[in-house]
Amino acid sequence: MVIQFLLFLAFYAIAKRLLHKIRSLPPSPFLTLPVIGHLHLLKKPLHRSLSQISRRHGPVTLLQFGSRRVLVVSSPDAAEECLAKNDIVFANRPRLLARKHLGYNYTSLDSSPYGEHWRNLRRIASLGLLSTNRLLTLSSIRTSEVRSLLRLLAKSGSQSVDMKCAFFELMLNVMMQMIAGKRYYEENVGEVEEARKFREIVTQSFRVGGVTNIGDFLPFLRRMGLEGLEEKITALHKKRDEFMQSLIDESRSGEGDESPEESAEGGKRKTLIQVLLSLRETEPEYYKDETVKSLMLVLLLAGTDTSALTMEWAMSAMLNQPEILKKARAEIDEVVGHDRLVNESDLPKLSYLHCVVNETMRMYPVLPLLIPHESAKECCVGGYRVPRGTILLVNLFSIQNDPNYWPNAAKFRPERFTGMEGVRDGYKMMPFGSGRRGCPGENLALRMIGLTLGSLIQCFEWNRISDELIDMTEGTGLTMPKAQPLLAKCRPRSFTSDLLSQA
Ligand code: HEM
Ligand SMILES: *[C@@H]1O[C@H](CO)[C@@H](O)[C@H](O)[C@H]1NC(C)=O
Ligand SMILES: *[C@@H]1O[C@H](CO)[C@@H](O)[C@H](O)[C@H]1NC(C)=O
Ligand SMILES: *[C@@H]1O[C@H](CO)[C@@H](O)[C@H](O)[C@H]1NC(C)=O
Repeated sequence: MVIQFLLFLAFYAIAKRLLHKIRSLPPSPFLTLPVIGHLHLLKKPLHRSLSQISRRHGPVTLLQFGSRRVLVVSSPDAAEECLAKNDIVFANRPRLLARKHLGYNYTSLDSSPYGEHWRNLRRIASLGLLSTNRLLTLSSIRTSEVRSLLRLLAKSGSQSVDMKCAFFELMLNVMMQMIAGKRYYEENVGEVEEARKFREIVTQSFRVGGVTNIGDFLPFLRRMGLEGLEEKITALHKKRDEFMQSLIDESRSGEGDESPEESAEGGKRKTLIQVLLSLRETEPEYYKDETVKSLMLVLLLAGTDTSALTMEWAMSAMLNQPEILKKARAEIDEVVGHDRLVNESDLPKLSYLHCVVNETMRMYPVLPLLIPHESAKECCVGGYRVPRGTILLVNLFSIQNDPNYWPNAAKFRPERFTGMEGVRDGYKMMPFGSGRRGCPGENLALRMIGLTLGSLIQCFEWNRISDELIDMTEGTGLTMPKAQPLLAKCRPRSFTSDLLSQA
């Protein structure tokens, strides 16, 4: 019996191999098991596991995740072939289980297939929130939120501060205010319950949102309901949907738009929700509640965690090498001085700070595999044939940490970016992805990250809570979190309280 099974296995593997060669598919690990394919090779975190497979089989590898083909690319050239030459072919997203419910039946901006509807959503996101013009209009929100964080930190005394929480709350307040005109975290704010609800939504969303839901690849498990995952996802969807609905209802009844500047600036500072609801007046068919809810959700979720985690990684890396912190501060002191706080117009002049941010996003890309793409038709990558309907994972983590492209890749060294301002070095570095499906929020993210880090460095002396280095191991999740939340201590500099009282 055992022998027969082993024989069958050997025959299966060899037959698979031959077929593979004949069809000129990309290389695959030898042992393709029946039913599960290569799932037995995958460990968490997925990006590390895939890097290992690519080291053995080359930068263009075809894996079988159960019933689905997955193309993994891990070199700049291969990434360019997928995201530039075959940009449109790969502009689709796979229909993964989590996205069916959470993505409103694959109609949300991030999960919608390439086409008219998706193009429309990108346009509305830009018009309502992310264009340079809109970002400028909404800049006072970002400035005032960063200042309240500075004030909060100034009061922390000698206590250690949970910077993961601080960055998350900052980003959530900023995104919530730009989108719905509300803020959640404040001393004595009355809405702690709502804030807690939303934080739970975010945590759960990232837990089920990844590419590693086994039911996506072994459909029979799903049919047998073994995972119970679908119920969990449906429940989460319901929670998210209700939350968003309450924001819309509040906004309709005028409760949500209570920010004082609103009337002073003659309604110019409309929130996203107001933009969407006013668009609805001309096109009620298109801007149904569902479209509005789905767009707000995507932008809230996409913006909050990614930016907050990047700030946490950056701060952690700098605390481990205080000379970097010192150099960034010297630049800020020279460009901005001690008489006023850093603001967004200073950012283009703070080039070392930008190098620090770039180096952070190189070593710790918060979406280490981008978001999965899917091919709409057969195409050619690295000289191999890639069939229609193949899922694409671009291993950004592997590319950006590869010593072949980055000398001394394992060392955090912002200086490697000096003199590179405005230079795009092929596809060696693309923390925001590239091509049609690239991140529409890059501009907003860079402003928030630059402004926040710049302000923290300008106003405080920073220290680790002990002599031990901060542990830079990554945890698991859709966005790459630090396994251990960053705790740090800060002391206001001599001029800080003056600056904060003016601001
Ligand atoms: C440090 C911060 C951020 C990083 C590193 C980041 C990175 C990315 C990456 C890698 C993708 C996927 C690209 C692809 O699939 O090829 C993406 C997609 C996306 N990002 Fe960001 N992002 C950040 C912040 C933001 C912000 C602030 C927003 C908006 C509020 C945003 C909105 C989106 C959306 C809507 C998509 C989906 C686009 C689509 O499918 O068409 N992101 N982002
Ligand atoms: C999802 O969309 C498909 C086709 O696009 C449609 O047949 C189906 O009824 C939709 N399901 C839900 C729950 O809206
Ligand atoms: C930043 O500060 C400078 C100097 O005070 C000022 O000229 C500029 O308008 C400010 N920019 C923003 C966006 O507040
Ligand atoms: C940071 O990286 C981006 C993308 O590679 C590049 O366009 C930019 O010029 C870099 N900035 C600096 C200051 O190195």
